[in-house]
Amino acid sequence: MKQTISSRAARGEMNSRPDRQAFDFKAYLEEKRSLVDDRLSEILDCSRVDSRLCRAMVHSLMGSGKRLRPVLCISAAEAAGHAGDTVLQASCSLEMIHTYSLIHDDLPAMDDDALRRGRPTCHVEYDEATAILAGDALLTLAFENLTGCAVKPDADAAGLLRVIRIIAQAAGYRGMIEGQMRDIAAEGENLALDPLKEMHSLKTGALIKASVVSGALLVCADEKQVTALAEYAENIGLAFQVTDDILNVNGDPEKMGKASGTDSARGKSTYPALMGPEKAAEYAENLVNNALQAITIFDNKAEPLAALATYIIKRDK
Ligand code: IPE
Ligand code: IPE
Ligand code: MG
Ligand code: MG
Repeated sequence: MKQTISSRAARGEMNSRPDRQAFDFKAYLEEKRSLVDDRLSEILDCSRVDSRLCRAMVHSLMGSGKRLRPVLCISAAEAAGHAGDTVLQASCSLEMIHTYSLIHDDLPAMDDDALRRGRPTCHVEYDEATAILAGDALLTLAFENLTGCAVKPDADAAGLLRVIRIIAQAAGYRGMIEGQMRDIAAEGENLALDPLKEMHSLKTGALIKASVVSGALLVCADEKQVTALAEYAENIGLAFQVTDDILNVNGDPEKMGKASGTDSARGKSTYPALMGPEKAAEYAENLVNNALQAITIFDNKAEPLAALATYIIKRDK
């Protein structure tokens, strides 16, 4: 059953009615990515505030990111209801928080990386102080943007307030930041499976889960739907970081827009380091199967979420 859903989703064949066209995941992803890109460009427009800081923020935000977190937010909203303008606007905040985390992650004090999204990292293109400030400014802009959603005609204020809290918690000291802290602290150590899983769930899983759950809450999903989507998200979040670690071993830097081989050079604790790339890939596949199982209650409305889960482990960037 799980395998069947997975392979059908991968081929874009999750339609049960013969009169429906096969779901075109590539076109879907491209359409959502472009909507998110356009909205991000509107929100962060340096022609209005022309400054070095704004240009540094745009440099990192508008590189070739996959926009996975906003797309997950939109797809979850579609599975549970109708994804309108508020969902699109709010989803951009997830991308801003994610981008800020990448700017800081690349700093010399952290992973010390020079290439990101096919461009020089923010501190290389500008300087360290500017990169720190650009990250700070993207984080605060994310919350300004979220609160700004409250005035939209299709906004549900109570749902939005819950979403802001969930995103803040996921991005903070009990979520992503704690994960980053553990990642840095574990350099040169060989973490066992459980602490490694916990670290991955915090540093990457927390924001991915918040993205999915936010989309659902913004369209007033019921608790059963939210629970199913949260389980889906926990599984794909972990699968996503495991895949990131595998790509760091055997990915093509040209395609990824960032360097490979850096995790082992810095003695990072990763799944491929612990169990080898093949076993790690198997583990990621099992996680995706669990995720697909969790969303069977949504039927065809969850086709994009199913395809996204498969994409997360099949991607090459
Ligand atoms: C990379 O995230 C960092 C991790 C959390 C593993 P993405 O792979 O989503 O990066 P972009 O947004 O596409 O650049
Ligand atoms: C980045 O994790 C996670 C966050 C920024 C929260 P990694 O350091 O493993 O990701 P890459 O490989 O630099 O993209
Ligand atoms: Mg890192
Ligand atoms: Mg890094």
